[in-house]
Amino acid sequence: MKDSFLPLVAAACEARLRSHSPYSGFRVGAALLGKSGKVYPGTNVENASIGLSICAERSAACRAVADGETGFTAIAICADGMEPTPPCGACRQFLLEFGRDMTVLIAGENGAAGEVRSFSLAELIPHAFETYVDQTGPRPNDGEGKS
Ligand code: THU
Repeated sequence: MKDSFLPLVAAACEARLRSHSPYSGFRVGAALLGKSGKVYPGTNVENASIGLSICAERSAACRAVADGETGFTAIAICADGMEPTPPCGACRQFLLEFGRDMTVLIAGENGAAGEVRSFSLAELIPHAFETYVDQTGPRPNDGEGKS
């Protein structure tokens, strides 16, 4: 992992401590690095209906989009446990909306003091659903043609 990503991992670990996860007891934090340089933290927010719960990665992405940023270079994810936990399939597809080249860093609860694994998003979601995406033109994440 590049040292420049250390603050992003730290932001994800900090966000994990704000997790609302009374049902699973599994805390996850995420931090998205926007192309502007701004960092958008997110955490998992569970609900008594269970199915309405949202993962940390998607809550970070919604926060960024609401703030007007839709292009990202990296996301760091920090979950409970010593082993880094890879993002769920739904979050992989959700993040793909905003760029297949983003770096995905996963860390355990010790953050950068423990093992941090690095992937590209494209490698984590081969054969994604992209039926409505123009793969030859600009993606909606570049700020042009945004709707
Ligand atoms: N969770 C995430 O926040 N991200 C993932 O990629 C997988 C799972 C959360 C959802 C739920 O609140 C808890 O972890 C247990 O599944």
